[in-house]
Amino acid sequence: MTTREILVTSALPYANGAIHLGHMLEHIQSDIWVRAMRMAGHTVHYVCADDAHGSAIMLRAEKEGITPQALIDAVWKEHSSAFRDFGVAYDHYSSTHTDANRELTARIWLALKAAGHTQSRPVKQLYDPVKAMFLPDRYIKGECPKCHSKDQYGDGCEVCGTAYTPADLINPYSVVSGATPELKESTHFFVKLADFEVMLKGWLAQRRDAGGLQAEVVNKLQEWFADGLRSWDVSRDAPYFGFEIPDAPGKFFYVWVDAPVGYLAAFKELCDSGRNGLRPDDLERFIRADSKTEMVHFIGKDIIYFHTLFWPAMLHGAGLRTPSAVNVHGFLTVNGAKMSKSRGTFIEARTYLDHLDPDYLRYFFATQLVPSLADVDLDMKAFEDRVNSHLVGKWVNIASRCAGFVHKFFGGKLAAQMPASESAAYAAAAQKLSTCAALYEARDYAAAMRAIIEVADEANAYVATNAPWTMAKDESKRDALHVVCTLAINYFRLLTVWLAPVVPATAARAFAFLGESPTRFDAAIQPRLGASIREFSALATRIDTNKIEAMIEASKENLQAVAPATPAAPTPAPQATVATISIDDFAKLDLRIGTVLECGFVEGSDKLLRFLLDAGDLGQRQIFSGIRASYGEPEKLVGRKVVFIANLAPRKMRFGVSEGMILSAGSGGSDLHLLDADAGAKSGMPVK
Ligand code: 2FM
Ligand code: ZN
Repeated sequence: MTTREILVTSALPYANGAIHLGHMLEHIQSDIWVRAMRMAGHTVHYVCADDAHGSAIMLRAEKEGITPQALIDAVWKEHSSAFRDFGVAYDHYSSTHTDANRELTARIWLALKAAGHTQSRPVKQLYDPVKAMFLPDRYIKGECPKCHSKDQYGDGCEVCGTAYTPADLINPYSVVSGATPELKESTHFFVKLADFEVMLKGWLAQRRDAGGLQAEVVNKLQEWFADGLRSWDVSRDAPYFGFEIPDAPGKFFYVWVDAPVGYLAAFKELCDSGRNGLRPDDLERFIRADSKTEMVHFIGKDIIYFHTLFWPAMLHGAGLRTPSAVNVHGFLTVNGAKMSKSRGTFIEARTYLDHLDPDYLRYFFATQLVPSLADVDLDMKAFEDRVNSHLVGKWVNIASRCAGFVHKFFGGKLAAQMPASESAAYAAAAQKLSTCAALYEARDYAAAMRAIIEVADEANAYVATNAPWTMAKDESKRDALHVVCTLAINYFRLLTVWLAPVVPATAARAFAFLGESPTRFDAAIQPRLGASIREFSALATRIDTNKIEAMIEASKENLQAVAPATPAAPTPAPQATVATISIDDFAKLDLRIGTVLECGFVEGSDKLLRFLLDAGDLGQRQIFSGIRASYGEPEKLVGRKVVFIANLAPRKMRFGVSEGMILSAGSGGSDLHLLDADAGAKSGMPVK
C-alpha cells in the first residue's frame, strides 16, 4: 500500500454563535475519516479554524459593547473546547483572523492580480446613511414585492419563497439603524471567474472520475455553468471586520475570500509549530501546483459553490494546487424536522455534552452517514435504541459476559492457542471487517457499521451457543471454557479496532481493558493469544431516556436564558420606521411589580434561578429566569422589587411551572440586570 499524505479540513464555523449538533454532524464525519485513514496507515493533518470576519461579527461585537477581537477570542474558546470534548481531534484549531491568514490571503490576491484575473468597477449598493455603512442583503428588510408580506429579508421572501435583490423590496429599511437605505456607488474588486471556465470544467470532471466529487455535486455545478460564470465581487467597503486589501485603503476582502484561505493558514501554523512531524517549508510542498499530497475538504451542501468554483479558481489562478476532494454532506434534522429552538431540538454541543456521552452521538451519526447529500435525521428514539442495542447490548456485552471467567479461572490470561474451528471463525470475521477500510474511505460509514454489527451478532451467537456460564460449573470443561472466552474476547477486540474511529474514547477504555493500544486496523488481522487482560469495568452504559428529555428541556431553557442575546443570525436592532406597535398591542402586556419572597438555584440547571414573587392581588408567582450567570448569590435578591410579565402563558418546565417572565436588561449570559422600581411601587401594581 502506498502511504498518502492528506490535509483534511471541515468548514470553518462562524465566530458568532455556539456550535450545535448540525455542526457536529460534519466535524464528526471528518474526524471519523481522519482516524480511519490514519488507522489504514496514511499520514493525515487535520485542521480547522473559526471563520472570524464579516459584518455579522462586527455588528454583534458592537451590540455587545466589546471589540470584535474580544468576541472572536471568547467564541474560539467555546468552539475549540466543544470539538475537543466531542473527540474531534484537530491537530490545530485556528482562526481566520491571524497573521498567517492575512499573509496568505494577500499572496493569493496579488498573484491573481498579477496574472490579470482581477478587475475593479463601480457598484451601486444600498447604504445606511445613519450607520454610514453599506448593507449586506440580510441587513435590509422590507415588504415582499410579490406577496407583500412585511419584514422580509433583502435576498428573498420567507413567506412566498421568491428570490430577489434588496432593491426590489417595497419600503426597505436598514435592520441596523432603521433608516431608509440609499443607493450609493463605490468601487469594488472582482475576480474574473470566466477566466477559469475551461479549467473548472476539467477539474470537476477529473475529480468526479477520481471519486473526489460526488456526481450529485457535479450535476448541480453543470447547471450553474449553464448560466455563465459572472465575475465574483470580492471586496467590501469599511467599516468591515476583515483584512484590508493591499494597496486599496478602506476596501476589505469579503469574508468568503479569506475563509477558505484559512484552511491553508491553519495548516501553515501547524507546519510552523513543528508538530505532526511537519516543518515550516512543508507548507510550500503541500500547496504548490504539482504537490503529491492531497487536500480534502468536508462541507455542507449549502456552501458547494464557494468550494468547487471560487476556491479552486482562486488557487489555480494563483498558481497553487487545487482541492483533491470536496466531500459534501446533507443537513441535520432532529426527529424528522428542521432543528427547532422552541421544540428544544436546536441542541448546542455543550448542552448535549452536559447530558450524554459524545461517543453515543458519534456512533449514531456513523450508522446514518452515507456518501450522499441526503439529510441525516437524529431521531431521538432511534438514537436511544441503537446505542443501547448495538454499543451496549452487542459490543460491550461480549466482553462483560466473558472477562470474569478469564480472571476467575485463568489468572486473567487468554489461551495461548485456539482450535482450528475457532481460528477459522476469527479469520473469517477479520476478513469480513477488513472491507470496512474501503467503506470508511468512501464515507459509507453506515455500511461499515452494518458489517461491524453483523460480526457482533456472530460473536454473541457464539457466546450464547457455548454458554460459558454453564461450562463454568463443570470443572472438566475448563479448557473449552478458556477457548470460548478467548475467542469471545478476540471478537470484542476485533470489533473495537474497527469501531475505534467512531467511538474513540470508549475504544480507548476497551483497549486499556485489553492491555494494548493498537493504532492500525491491521493489528486485528491476527487474534491476540496468551495475553493478559485487566479486570472488566463497565465501558458504556445504556442511555437513560430521562437524560434525552433533560437535554431537550435544557435546550428550551437555553432559548429562554439567552433570549436577550444576539442569535446566530443577524439581529435587527430596534427599528425606527417599521417595528412600531399600537397602544392596543402594548395594552395586551400585563406588566406588574413583584417583590422577591424567595430566590435560589435550580438543581440540574446551570442557567436558571427560581423566584417566588409576591404579586399583590395576583397572589404568589413562581418564575424561572435564566439569569443565574449574572446573579451568583440569589438569596441577596430577596426583598427586591422586579418587573414581570403577569399574563404570559404558564410554561411547564422540568423543574416546575413558570408563571410569567421577569424582565432584565443586557445582552445575555453574565450581562443581565434586573429592572428596579422606586420606593412607592408596591407588589402587584401594574406597570404602564
Ligand atoms: O458557512 C459557513 O459556516 C462558513 N463559515 C464556512 C466557511 S468554510 C471555509 F471556506 F472557510
Ligand atoms: Zn413574498
